[in-house]
Amino acid sequence: MRVLVTGGAGYVGSVSVERLLEAGHEVVVLDDLSTGHRASVPPAVSLEVGSYGDADEMTRLLERARVDAILHCAARSLVGESVRDPARYYRDNVAGGIVLLEAARQAGVGRVVFSSSAAVYGVPDATPIPEDAPLRPINTYGETKRTFEGALRFYGEAYGLRSVSLRYFNVAGATDRNGELHDPETHLIPNVLRAVETGLPITLFGDDYPTDDGTCVRDYIHVADLADAHLTALEATAATDPRTDTALVCNLGIGAGFSVRQVVDAAAAVVGRPIPQTMGPRRVGDPPVLVAAADRAREVLGWTAACPTLEEMIGSAWAWRRVNLDDEGHRRG
Ligand code: UFG
Repeated sequence: MRVLVTGGAGYVGSVSVERLLEAGHEVVVLDDLSTGHRASVPPAVSLEVGSYGDADEMTRLLERARVDAILHCAARSLVGESVRDPARYYRDNVAGGIVLLEAARQAGVGRVVFSSSAAVYGVPDATPIPEDAPLRPINTYGETKRTFEGALRFYGEAYGLRSVSLRYFNVAGATDRNGELHDPETHLIPNVLRAVETGLPITLFGDDYPTDDGTCVRDYIHVADLADAHLTALEATAATDPRTDTALVCNLGIGAGFSVRQVVDAAAAVVGRPIPQTMGPRRVGDPPVLVAAADRAREVLGWTAACPTLEEMIGSAWAWRRVNLDDEGHRRG
């Protein structure tokens, strides 16, 4: 199949592109390079530099590219920024997303896989969190993901769009080619590894949560496993596949949680030295525990995590950083 990957120069998008190519699919990447990296797109892949929220551009691109399906990874994705500047998140994640869907409808592209987030759940009543738990996002980011999931559902009912929304939990790790590099970086594992590189302590956000060791618990999933799930999700949007007769939503996590302390200890073991660290106050908006009920992805998509250990996730991220980042933490080349 021929797939348009929006955000294909970003972290999840670029690893998904790798996986699609390995599986023999053709790929076109659309990325405005505002947070993505040109170096993440293989030379053999056509990179369109632009925005999925630009109606004329999208129409032209879909006319020309003749894709069968869209993997929509591009989005604004900083939780804190989304609360400070909701307009940017509604404009890009919601209004821009609708531009993409409209262009797809006009071009007759009826298959979409969407990067959603566990942020749609907000603070869950109980964990592991099943997909039918109440959706009560506590920040604009999660709300915009929830809203776009809703658009996919109703486009499906009215226009026959086939879609899968994948609710990512905490994505981690790297392949040989692509890894996680954000500016600013807010995520735990890259910040832990940066602390090793610079010797400057990472601040751990609170140890007074109602968890075993007092730090927050998250469900970490290897980005290569996530990419596998994207491939199976794209296959599930085929015209006669009953799994997407109505919009399908799947959590993507491994179904087990690790605390911030466990992550830091695992990182110390991987790099073979102590992690410089200080304990700080809680970060606003962090739920104590977020763990996925991961059965649906397994049962419906036939997906399983091949790399479910922190060692594999942190080890691959560390290996990638050592090859690809310079002393300042910038990508080489
Ligand atoms: N943390 C630290 N220090 C840091 C960074 C993070 O202690 O420097 C802690 C956080 O407080 C949290 C845990 O590490 O307890 C994980 O934090 P991340 O920022 O790595 O990930 P989140 O769980 O906050 O965020 C993830 C996704 C978001 C999504 C959110 C809610 O990255 O996109 O889950 O589903 F919105």
